[in-house]
Amino acid sequence: MKKIINVLDYAEPILKSVRKGVLLTTVADGRVNTMAISWGMLGIEWGRLLFSTFVRTGRFTRELLDKNGEFTVNIPMRGSDPALVGKCGICSGREVDKFEQFGLTAEPGEKVAVPGIREYPLALECRVVCRQEQDRAAMHAAVIRECYPENVGSENWGANHDIHIAYIGEIVNAYII
Ligand SMILES: Cc1cc2nc3c(=O)[nH]c(=O)nc-3n(C[C@H](O)[C@H](O)[C@H](O)COP(=O)(O)O)c2cc1C
Repeated sequence: MKKIINVLDYAEPILKSVRKGVLLTTVADGRVNTMAISWGMLGIEWGRLLFSTFVRTGRFTRELLDKNGEFTVNIPMRGSDPALVGKCGICSGREVDKFEQFGLTAEPGEKVAVPGIREYPLALECRVVCRQEQDRAAMHAAVIRECYPENVGSENWGANHDIHIAYIGEIVNAYII
């Protein structure tokens, strides 16, 4: 069962969770995958309530997102296992089925084709309204030094070579499982 929520009532716990790590779930070609994210923004533009996520170009998640511009953000609540974020952040869906491997339960989405995750029960259903490769030339030198040292290639889960793509998603539904 799902309880529909007003996202703004949960803005503080959502952002505090993002800082620690939440799950970003995608689906394309019948394949569901999830990965850890700890960068994300909740806000408003174009008269829409938005969640923006920043995905390095080498991620399997990026491939799925480019095929189907929908995603869910899955946020832990009291009783959730915090270790799931770490597990989903150090391996790629190219090699493993993370749902099977880590015992995640997909709950069918309502307004998007992407499921929520029962174990991380607060879900934001998002539809990409803007995709924007981030511009290295526009970044502060300190950000480039810290976030793009370029000593881990894009084929690795800890890649720091690739630039991020900002996927700005309109939050079309939000619920707690
Ligand atoms: C706590 C944590 C936060 C992360 N945040 C991000 C992020 O915001 N953006 C990103 O591209 N990768 C991030 N990662 C790395 C991806 O989760 C990781 O590379 C993952 O294996 C990619 O999975 P995929 O290849 O199945 O898409 C994070 C990893 C961890 C452990």
